[in-house]
Amino acid sequence: MPRHFETDELSSVRDLVRWGASRFREAGLHFGHGTDNALDEAFFLTLHALHLPTDIPALYLESTVTASERTAVLKLLRARVTTRKPAAYLIGEIEFAGMPFHVDERVLIPRSPIGELILADFQPWLQGQPERVLDLCTGSGCIGIACAAQFPYAQVDLADISEGALAVSRKNIKRHGLEDRVRAIKSDVFDGLGDATYDLIVTNPPYVTTAEWNTLATEYRHEPRLALEAGHDGMDIVARILEGAVAHLRPGGLLICEVGAFVEEFEVRWPQLPVTWLDFERGGDGVFLISREDLVSHL
Ligand SMILES: C[S@@+](CC[C@H](N)C(=O)[O-])C[C@H]1O[C@@H](n2cnc3c(N)ncnc32)[C@H](O)[C@@H]1O
Repeated sequence: MPRHFETDELSSVRDLVRWGASRFREAGLHFGHGTDNALDEAFFLTLHALHLPTDIPALYLESTVTASERTAVLKLLRARVTTRKPAAYLIGEIEFAGMPFHVDERVLIPRSPIGELILADFQPWLQGQPERVLDLCTGSGCIGIACAAQFPYAQVDLADISEGALAVSRKNIKRHGLEDRVRAIKSDVFDGLGDATYDLIVTNPPYVTTAEWNTLATEYRHEPRLALEAGHDGMDIVARILEGAVAHLRPGGLLICEVGAFVEEFEVRWPQLPVTWLDFERGGDGVFLISREDLVSHL
């Protein structure tokens, strides 16, 4: 039986979610951009296509969908299979630290555990409210914009080498009405920032080794290579951040940097650095913190 006759049998929201999950598993999709399994991904996409919130009471999952709604849901579910694009690129949006961000293929899809630190005001590490914050390697701007929302008196700079990423970050600055306190600056690591100094530098730079990048699932290949890959040990950009951070941190300032699964590569390069590896309640690891003073005395 041709597949479109089969899909005519799908009548409820629940039917569509179940059908999508089956097709996703059948196709061997990879999940690593907001969900970690086929059912959650199908649920998220189905509810999005139906313009429904994901916290909808379970009762409504039994509702019958109209023919045009079914067509819209199936189009999105099929696109996930045929393009292998992460769901966030298909719908153009993702939530980070409780805020919605526009995303497209010019930027990495936000997923850093740093979001949890922002919502906790970087406690117990940060003393008081920061006046100036730098989100280095900003991509969509998610980290810096979430910092600006969390610290209402802070001036925040978003820096990235990619014009495409800066265009997306500017769209997100505008979306959240933060034009008066947040600016996006083109900069190759610190090179475009002049002598600006900050109380807090937060960064999720590219840190994937070239060998690892070559093995990544198709979903990650839709993300900019520039956002992920950083040389044979993944530490090309991290090295430049460590070198330049002292000149851009104020006394007492902090550098918070993500290296994800590449902690070992970091520790091989900088065994002497007294970094603190941070813990996360909601998952994630590979984020370190170091003070300006410790950078000065150990680099
Ligand atoms: C891992 S993504 C992080 C994006 C965002 N901060 C997040 O957490 O979702 C890394 C970003 O670093 C940028 N980047 C790569 N090389 C850079 C460089 N030399 N100087 C500044 N930014 C760079 C990429 O364009 C990309 O947007």
